Amino acid sequence: MKKTSAILWQDAQHQVLFEILDMIAEPNAGKDVLRHLHDYSEQHFALEERYMIALDYPMTASHIKAHDRFRQEISSLLELGEADPAFRAAVSTFLTEWLKRHVLGIDKDLEAFILAADLK
Ligand SMILES: [Fe+2]
Ligand SMILES: [Fe+2]
Repeated sequence: MKKTSAILWQDAQHQVLFEILDMIAEPNAGKDVLRHLHDYSEQHFALEERYMIALDYPMTASHIKAHDRFRQEISSLLELGEADPAFRAAVSTFLTEWLKRHVLGIDKDLEAFILAADLK
């Protein structure tokens, strides 16, 4: 079987997450965008976590902890209600930076592990 250098679902989902984070910074973005971020990130994290557990990935606990921090950020945002545009822009920047570090850091390690296991 031909090996690829990336996992397509993971790359595609990260791309969508960055797009949703951009939408949060838009002036007329409402709570529905935050809810969309909540639902989509949960779906993405859950899929990564299913792979980790299925493959007995050694870094599972710390990776789930990192996901949980992001989950907490989104939950507290949802509890806040309507936020003004400047605050949403700041949140968008903060979460985008977090996600970039995550995607280029421990998600890359997970990707390499899944590819080596040939289970994508
Ligand atoms: Fe990810
Ligand atoms: Fe992750």
